[in-house]
Amino acid sequence: MSFSARLLGWYDRSARVLPWRIAPGRAEVPDPYRVWLAEVMLQQTTVAAVAGYFAHFTERWPTVADLAAAGDAEVMAAWAGLGYYARARNLLACARAVVAEHGGCFPDSEAGLRALPGIGAYTAAAVAAIAFGRPAVVVDANIERVIARHRCIETPLPAAKRAIRDALAPLVPGDRPGDFAQALMDLGATLCTPRAPVCARCPIAADCRARGRADIERLPVKPPK
Ligand code: ADE
Repeated sequence: MSFSARLLGWYDRSARVLPWRIAPGRAEVPDPYRVWLAEVMLQQTTVAAVAGYFAHFTERWPTVADLAAAGDAEVMAAWAGLGYYARARNLLACARAVVAEHGGCFPDSEAGLRALPGIGAYTAAAVAAIAFGRPAVVVDANIERVIARHRCIETPLPAAKRAIRDALAPLVPGDRPGDFAQALMDLGATLCTPRAPVCARCPIAADCRARGRADIERLPVKPPK
């Protein structure tokens, strides 16, 4: 079975149920606004910390147009506690640009998303894949760890990023690229953890080059101090 078939099979059985995801088996399409909001909140912040804020924001501002119309002070107050306040300012600037420049619809390509305020390479790829089904190469710290181990990439970060991206790109499936990215995130968060990875339950262990190595926790190799 291919890498993506094994990974997606595992995801179908084991995906974390998270408020910004569509529940398994539901024939809904993802809402780009909710996907974008979750990805911005999840930068540098844990899933557990984000959940309550995500619920509050989407109740108070159900659409990107609602958020764009909100006052700066209201949004900053709602963000309080999440940290990295530049993200909140960019969030509002982005919502307003989506309304002013795109009629309230998020652009559906990585390049179009990248051109919006506060959307960097990671967020553009994640939203393109998860909300629009584009086969973008999504790489966050969890995904970096999974791929660095699977390929046993010994180059230290950040130089390893190139090799990780090159290894990942040909594995991204044409269908379900968003689930594929989120499956790698979940694998990194639940089994391929920084300490004591649970290789016995990993769906891609069969061809993992680091599996069974006593020093698997060393991968990915940290930058020299
Ligand atoms: N971390 C960043 N984006 C995520 C997502 N979509 N699901 C789970 N964890 C994430």
